[in-house]
Amino acid sequence: MLSGVSFAQAMKPDDNQATREQGRAIYERSCLFCHGGAGKGDGPAGWFLGRYSAPRPRDFTVGEYKFRTTASGEAPTDQDLFRTLTRGIPGFMPSFASLSAEDRWALIAYIKSLSDVFRQEAAKPLSIGLPSIPPTPESLETGGTLYRSLECFVCHGSSGGGDGPLAEAGSLHDGAGLRIAPTDLTNRASYKNGASPRDIYRTLITGLDGTPMPSYAGQFVGKEEQLWHVVNYILSLSPEVRP
Ligand code: HEC
Ligand code: HEC
Repeated sequence: MLSGVSFAQAMKPDDNQATREQGRAIYERSCLFCHGGAGKGDGPAGWFLGRYSAPRPRDFTVGEYKFRTTASGEAPTDQDLFRTLTRGIPGFMPSFASLSAEDRWALIAYIKSLSDVFRQEAAKPLSIGLPSIPPTPESLETGGTLYRSLECFVCHGSSGGGDGPLAEAGSLHDGAGLRIAPTDLTNRASYKNGASPRDIYRTLITGLDGTPMPSYAGQFVGKEEQLWHVVNYILSLSPEVRP
């Protein structure tokens, strides 16, 4: 029996002119009013979402994406775009899980046709090699020390509330020059890139391109287990989300 991702994969149509046309028709119904007629992130509703502050709806002609499994600076995979469409972006974009998998793939084919970054060879996902580590008191202690030594607090604040000195000074901006707030790490329901341990690990190694949130992949080469301590520490800052 097919399930989950493999079922979605099985529904993936060929990326050809007809698929892109199908995607464009759905786009005009479901996305245009935020992302704009030409995909430049300037739809009428988008203007109200973020006139003077980030995030505005993504400009698909730029080809820069936040929620990836690929290294910083790389294009997302098709599967990454599928995940974003399926989950939505908490606080900013609804989930489109109600569209059929085939329609979501068609949308992705259309969006990809708007930027040259997708005409290069597809980027490979970074692997998460090690299984997660249980959040023992020692793990949380090590994670907290790393949170301080890596200076996460200058943006996210010493208690994770999103109120670090750089945030308070209003000096953080996104790629479009709009003021951007660091995530309040004590509210995991607001995490846009997912709040499971693997999701947070992924955020830390990929970074969120186009924002001040950097990739930490380089700092942890050969000591990946330390990243799990940081993940455990981050999750200890917020209560579990109840469904
Ligand atoms: C209510 C407004 C709204 C609608 C409707 C909407 N989006 Fe978005 N979308 C946003 C905003 C805002 C962002 C940027 C969020 C951020 O940067 O944190 C975004 C970002 C994205 C991204 C970029 C994710 C990344 O990795 O950077 C994709 C892809 C996307 N939208 C696809 C779509 C598609 C396809 C549709 C229609 C099926 C759609 N959106 C409908 C508001 C919307
Ligand atoms: C220079 C400022 C800066 C530093 C340093 C920084 N961050 Fe961030 N971080 C941000 C911003 C800004 C966002 C929100 C981006 C957005 O909403 O698009 C963010 C988002 C996040 C998120 C949430 C991602 C999501 O799913 O929405 C996590 C988790 C996170 N940071 C953890 C960390 C950790 C851990 C460190 C240190 C290892 C760190 N950050 C260092 C600015 C920073």
